[in-house]
Amino acid sequence: MALAIMCSGGDAAGMNPAIKKFVDYAHKLNQETYFIYDGLEGLIDNRIKKASHKDVAGIMHIGGTILRSSRSKRFFEYENRERAFKNLQTCGIDGLVVLGGDGSFRAMDIFSKEFNINFVGIPTTIDNDINGTEYCLGADTALNVIREALDKIRDTASSFNRAFVVEVMGRNCGYLAIVSSIISGAEVCVVPEVSFKKDALAKRLREEVQNGRRYILAIISEGTKSTYEIGTWIQDEIGLETRISILGHIQRGGNPTVHDRMMAFEFTIGAIDHLLESKNANKVIVYNKGEFQLIDIEEVVSQTYQVPAKLLNAINYLD
Ligand code: F6P
Repeated sequence: MALAIMCSGGDAAGMNPAIKKFVDYAHKLNQETYFIYDGLEGLIDNRIKKASHKDVAGIMHIGGTILRSSRSKRFFEYENRERAFKNLQTCGIDGLVVLGGDGSFRAMDIFSKEFNINFVGIPTTIDNDINGTEYCLGADTALNVIREALDKIRDTASSFNRAFVVEVMGRNCGYLAIVSSIISGAEVCVVPEVSFKKDALAKRLREEVQNGRRYILAIISEGTKSTYEIGTWIQDEIGLETRISILGHIQRGGNPTVHDRMMAFEFTIGAIDHLLESKNANKVIVYNKGEFQLIDIEEVVSQTYQVPAKLLNAINYLD
């Protein structure tokens, strides 16, 4: 069989280990491998090349993706999807692995049904917000980048009497903010999923400051769009001089952690095994309760990911 791999949407650490495993494992099973560069844009424009071991030498430890990625608006037009299909046909590709997030899977759902593509998606996004899976490739590395930044911010915060308001990524999902708050011992965590109880929070923080608290670390999820507002609020209501840090795209970089490398291997092996067994898979490989499983892409895209109640409860300390 001829198998192809591509990355779509936001890049994430773990993509390169998955790409390496894809080539190494497929060749071990005597399958041909192709790379599709620049995501769905490259699929439309036929940026497809045969891949071999030498293309993946020395990439295991590198963040981002050697295949590059894109967010393609053009792919939502039928004639571009038709071009993409013809490109796959011309190369004789009969199995496709896509590393991507929610938006990419929506596009692939349409595409694979329209043209009967044998496709398996690997959930890959730092946001960890794909329905149907507990874990998305790249989240662990991003959390470690955030942890390192927060540890450093705490160093300077504890050297002054100040509040630090730190915005983390996650699009509309508070997963990164909640986990970061737990592991950094932040005093405040504001996410889209939980209403911000200003009065209760102000009361608690004022009491803590009266009892000797000298600084505050507040983690705000970008989806709340309230970072600056909360910064001003803390300064005015609590009376602590406030500084704001937007961590931004550094959260998408960094060497993949051990966990992301191991997950990349497992996801990729599962995806290839399934493509080889199937003629028209339309699946995403997911990870839940320690097990990998293939589920219909429809199941993945039909609902929005919900942050587990256990995590939400961890920041519901004001109730
Ligand atoms: O989906 C990953 C992510 O990093 C989100 O957390 C963020 O909202 C978005 O991508 C940023 O996208 P871009 O790199 O296109 O600005």
